[in-house]
Amino acid sequence: MPVPPPLVAVLASVATALALRAPRARVAPRPPAPSSSPRAPPRSNKSIVRRLYREVWNNADLASANASAERYVSDDHVLIDPSNPTPEPGVEAYMQHVRGNREALPDYVIAVDNVIEEGDKCVAQLSFTASLNERTARWTGTCVMEFENGAIVKSWVNTDAMSAMIQLGLMTDLVHTGSLNSRPVTHALMGRDEPHPETVLTGKEWLQYFEEVHESWERRSIDSESARSLRTDKKSGLQVVI
Ligand SMILES: *[C@@H]1O[C@H](CO)[C@@H](O)[C@H](O)[C@H]1NC(C)=O
Ligand SMILES: *[C@@H]1O[C@H](CO)[C@@H](O)[C@H](O)[C@H]1NC(C)=O
Repeated sequence: MPVPPPLVAVLASVATALALRAPRARVAPRPPAPSSSPRAPPRSNKSIVRRLYREVWNNADLASANASAERYVSDDHVLIDPSNPTPEPGVEAYMQHVRGNREALPDYVIAVDNVIEEGDKCVAQLSFTASLNERTARWTGTCVMEFENGAIVKSWVNTDAMSAMIQLGLMTDLVHTGSLNSRPVTHALMGRDEPHPETVLTGKEWLQYFEEVHESWERRSIDSESARSLRTDKKSGLQVVI
């Protein structure tokens, strides 16, 4: 005996509802419960680098900076910094630098402009700001960090300490005072033979400034090109673009 249409419709709708519900139940599983460790480890070496500067170097709370350094810096850490030759390895030696900087320059801030990662190394492009006796300095630096077992085991650091010293008034500008008088050598070593710039731009601001200057140069060269190519047409006596 044929099933009357209303029942077919009911069965069909029940089937549809089941069909819809079944996959929905399958595709929405609960995410796995977080591991029992209270603090999940940082995901990548790059993220450790960013956390290092935020939580260790830029942290005025030294106890919390200490705790973060213990997490991100290896007990075997070696600093390779020609202007800061500390042969002592480990987190405590690392924190001595951090504390030393914070005590000398309390508003010291390091901005991480970029982090590049390859293999077990990360490179951070850094911009520094600090002030002393109402002078503010901005300078740049680079740090290459090598990772082992999820912690930084070596740091190769280069910062433009000379520029920082000049800006903070701690040393006179050798170029400005004329103490360096071999022009090609001065230019090669200092990148300039004019007085130290009063406004130092770092990171994105420098790139923006560079672009603006470059654009204005381009505009000028287009203007001068078009000026050069304007000629007087002998027949009409009009200025025409050749
Ligand atoms: C930082 O940790 C070291 C041990 O690594 C400890 O001697 C020092 O007292 C700590 N400093 C602070 C401010 O917690
Ligand atoms: C991160 O560092 C570890 C060493 O701690 C290294 O084995 C690994 O290749 C590095 N890179 C990534 C993407 O994990």
